[in-house]
This record gives sequence, structure tokens and C-alpha cells, in this order.
Amino acid sequence: MATLAPTPADLVITPRDRKFARDPKPGRWWAGGDPVATAVYNALSATFPEGEAFFVESVRNFRDGTPPKLAAEIKAFTTQEAIHSREHAAFNKSAVDAGYDLTPLEEKVHWRLGLVKDRPPIAALAATMALEHFTAILAHELLSDPRHLAGVEREDGDLWRWHAAEAIEHKGVAYDTWLNATRQWPRGKRWKVKAKVMLLVTRNCIVDRTLGALELLRQDGITGPRAWARLFWYMWVRPGMMRKIFAAWVSYFLPGFHPWNQDDRRLLAGFELGGQYGQEPARRVRSAA
Ligand SMILES: [Fe+2]
Ligand SMILES: [Fe+2]
Repeated sequence: MATLAPTPADLVITPRDRKFARDPKPGRWWAGGDPVATAVYNALSATFPEGEAFFVESVRNFRDGTPPKLAAEIKAFTTQEAIHSREHAAFNKSAVDAGYDLTPLEEKVHWRLGLVKDRPPIAALAATMALEHFTAILAHELLSDPRHLAGVEREDGDLWRWHAAEAIEHKGVAYDTWLNATRQWPRGKRWKVKAKVMLLVTRNCIVDRTLGALELLRQDGITGPRAWARLFWYMWVRPGMMRKIFAAWVSYFLPGFHPWNQDDRRLLAGFELGGQYGQEPARRVRSAA
């Protein structure tokens, strides 16, 4: 068990109860004036309030009987996710105030999660574990390369950096909960379920977020091949978030994988409660580490 769960012994998961500005955004395209970047982040944010409530429920179902350290981490994880939901609900409201209709995106998330909820609770935990890895590698990339949030207003950038930092900090919780819940399973079965669910979740996530972003671009009057091409370029080429997380995504399928095989806590420097997030460009933090 110990070798399968190398969550650092000194890791402390700290819910940072931050509230971000609720003021109306200066413009509709808050992400550096770019409709495509705005659509991508808005589409992602639309999934969080219901998605993170689902994560919390999925992990909580397996809390009983976990070792004390993991039980404490689950508690901190659920607190962090609840605060993320609250802040993204506020963020989403500002997108609605700016004129976007997020309803079709939210309905899609509701439908997807409904499919999982009809299955045994271990399926929801496997989906959460996969999505938590996906989120953690996106977060790693977001904090490693300032280009992703280039031109974004301080408070909006801080919201995303704060969320990314906490996603990294709690990235092992769903995984360790899964290891504990399936400790009696044969290794082959564990790997098969884990891999199958990751493939499914990845496909759904990419398809749904792409269609969601296209819907928001449509609401901006950007449609057809132009919308597809601009979105593809942004997601896969430059800054190319999806391309950059590919190797980390593949690592999930390798023997001995654990989210903390990569200890990237250096990216969390400067994220103390009430701090000004992102004062230090992550690149400088990295080179100083
Ligand atoms: Fe979160
Ligand atoms: Fe999370």
C-alpha cells in the first residue's frame, strides 16, 4: 500500500476561503479580449458547480474506514471543492450578466453526471479520480506557463490560479480513496476499470467542452469553420493546453502511477490565504526551486 500511495507525508491540504471580485467584468471577453480563450474558460467554469459537488459526494461515499490521515485529507478536499463551487457559481453569474446563456452547457453536465449516478458508487469514484487527474495536470500546466492567462485581469487570473493551486494540492485524495476502496481487488481488474473510465471521461470531457465553447462562440456570432479552426488552434496548438498535458495524461495508464509521483508543490509557492495569487510568475518560481 505504501509504495502505491506516495502522497507526501508532510502534505497539508489547506482550504483557502477566498472570495474573488463580484464586480461586473470590464468587457464580455474577460480573457485578454479574446473570445476564444473566454469561451474555453467559461465553458470549463460552467461545469464546476455541479461537477465539484459530484466529486465531493463520490469521495465521501468511501470515507468510512479510511486511515486517519486520508480521512482528514478527504475533509480538506471536500471543503476546497465546496469553496471552488461557490466561487465558480459567482464567476458564472458574471458571464451570464455579460450576456452569455450557460444553460445548455449546464444541462449537458447534469445529463452526463446523471448517467454515472445510476451506476454503483465505485464508478463515480473512478470517474472522479480520472477527472481529478485531468484537472491536476491542467492546473500544473496553467501555473507553469503564464501565457495561458496572459492579458487576464488580476482578479480573474487569481481565481483560476487559486483553483489550480488547490487542485494540485488535493490531487492525490480521490486516488488514495480509490486505492483504499479497491484494496481487495486484483491488480488487473483495478487497472482495467481505471483505464477504461479514464478513456471514457477524457472523450466526454473533450467533446463536451469543445461543443460548449463552440456554443458560447456562436452566441458571440462566431460560427462555422472559422470557429472550429480558432478553437482548435487555441486548445491544441497555441497556447495548446491539450497538447501540453498529453504526456502527463498518458502517465495515468503506466504501472506504478500515482498523482504524487510528480511532486509539483513548488508551483504552490505564494498561495497563502489572502495572498495575491500569481505575483510571482511560476517560471521564476520553478527556476528558483
Ligand atoms: Fe476544484
Ligand atoms: Fe479537484
